[in-house]
Amino acid sequence: MSYQQNYDALVIGSGLAGLFVALNLANTKRKVCIITKKSLFECNSYYAQGGIAGVIDELDSIENHIRDTIIAGSGLCDPKAVEYIVSHGRDAIYSLIDLGVEFTKDDTHPTGFHITREGGHSLRRILHVADKTGAEIITKLVSKVIAHPNITVLENSIAIDLILNDTHNKCVGAYVFNSKNNHTITISATNIILATGGASKVYLYTTNPDTATGDGIAMAYRSGCNVINMEFIQFHPTCLYHPHAKSFLISEALRGEGGILKLPNGYRFMKDHDHRLELAPRDIVARAIDFEMKKHGLDCVYLDISHKSASFIIEHFPTIYTTCKNFNIDITSAPIPVVPSAHYTCGGIETDLSGKTNISNLYAIGECASTGLHGANRLASNSLLECVVMGNAAVTDILNRQNINNHITLPQWDDSQVVDSDEEVIVSHNWDELRRMMWSYVGIVRTNKRLERALHRVELLEKEIKDYYANFKLSLNLIELRNLVCVAKLVIESAMLRHENIGLHYSADYKNTQSNNYPINTVLNKEQKA
Ligand code: FAD
Ligand code: SIN
Repeated sequence: MSYQQNYDALVIGSGLAGLFVALNLANTKRKVCIITKKSLFECNSYYAQGGIAGVIDELDSIENHIRDTIIAGSGLCDPKAVEYIVSHGRDAIYSLIDLGVEFTKDDTHPTGFHITREGGHSLRRILHVADKTGAEIITKLVSKVIAHPNITVLENSIAIDLILNDTHNKCVGAYVFNSKNNHTITISATNIILATGGASKVYLYTTNPDTATGDGIAMAYRSGCNVINMEFIQFHPTCLYHPHAKSFLISEALRGEGGILKLPNGYRFMKDHDHRLELAPRDIVARAIDFEMKKHGLDCVYLDISHKSASFIIEHFPTIYTTCKNFNIDITSAPIPVVPSAHYTCGGIETDLSGKTNISNLYAIGECASTGLHGANRLASNSLLECVVMGNAAVTDILNRQNINNHITLPQWDDSQVVDSDEEVIVSHNWDELRRMMWSYVGIVRTNKRLERALHRVELLEKEIKDYYANFKLSLNLIELRNLVCVAKLVIESAMLRHENIGLHYSADYKNTQSNNYPINTVLNKEQKA
């Protein structure tokens, strides 16, 4: 069964970027459809802990925040993007407050808020809701979305591919597969907004939930969008190390509030790596941990905040305290075993400062996009900020344009040539192999040889998955796997193009830190390749 639905805007993804854009468009009487591949709540945004960066304290300044962002990004940030996004920080925070978000208060602080600190920030600049900032934001936005008369929500609905017009320069809709009833529908929309998040599931170990499979980046690439800087995958230094803990982050705010990284013998190793110690930017801390683990043959290092009072720890980090307690780790008296794991996709679909891609009517907002804010390494808590500021910018752009609703009948999804799979094992095996291969060969420290091996493996997997996709009926796992292999190849190819060590891209083959004659962005485009 296949049929077509028509909207003014199709928002693909229900994280902070998608919900924010949808609400603001719907408030102007646009008919908006949000599709999301699992529940409305399942997204990276929900799990955000540390908070949202923004200048609201008089002791701080826009210039400080710009400088910290550019230093963390190793100078590869686009200065215009940094200035635009950072200077809208205060507005972004207040627009979340207007939507009902209740940031943690501190009556003793002139702003009235408790402001915390994370790595790379030269001073306290982060508003938060204890250590569950994302859950509070998403819960408040979802309650507004489901009550909104102009918004249709389709859960368990995964976009398979974008639909372009005949001349391939305009996006007119998307094919959407419902993983509960196995039906594919066609959605036509005047504007299509990709808000599909990042791709960290391409690695075996990640802080991200299962939804982060890079679908939007892969769909956009297949449609002819520029995809940039995919070599810059951010590894968060501190993910809980425990055999039964899947993807649980130990927030950088814990280091911001005094947490110390130690070897098993108690040695504070960060003093051997950077004068900013535990609060150096993430690329440096993650690499330092990787170095120490390899040097001493360790499974993990330790993060210790037990020197602070139990009441302070429990008040500021209730989620981390409870989760660790469930694994028999009492963080008020014992250090936390931690390892780095894949956390954030700094590159993505290239957009301008309205969120526009190089295809008409197609926008990309949030982690799937690359505006130039993050450069070679994202500054902590700049991501939620970017979702809101760029969400606003896209809405303004859409409202300022002449949006002609011209819903022609689009070709329907044709699955007449495919049959039920008799070998699902290929999908699960390739999922596992791909993620292991990326972890081993394209991780925190790379080499030319490892990248070559990775490219060879990914090309074999790509062919196998392409054949499978052409012959068998769709499933959620298959659609995601097709996207993961595409994104893995983009990461490998981008890494192979960058012959220098900068920010998150580090190869043991390049001893220099940064060459002066290298282009700022690594740009990949399917059309230019062909
Ligand atoms: P997401 O929130 O990931 O939403 C993507 C949505 O798209 C999901 O709903 C997903 O299901 C949907 N989707 C994907 N593909 C498809 C498809 N094909 N069809 C339909 N739907 C699809 N950043 C900060 O600034 N501060 C923090 O404190 C912070 N803490 C973090 C903690 C954790 C554990 C993690 C994982 C990330 C954290 N980050 C933080 C990063 C930040 O949370 C994310 O970068 C940001 O929330 C991304 O928002 P988004 O809306 O772009 O994507
Ligand atoms: C964290 O709380 O450590 C995550 C913050 C971020 O990714 O910006």
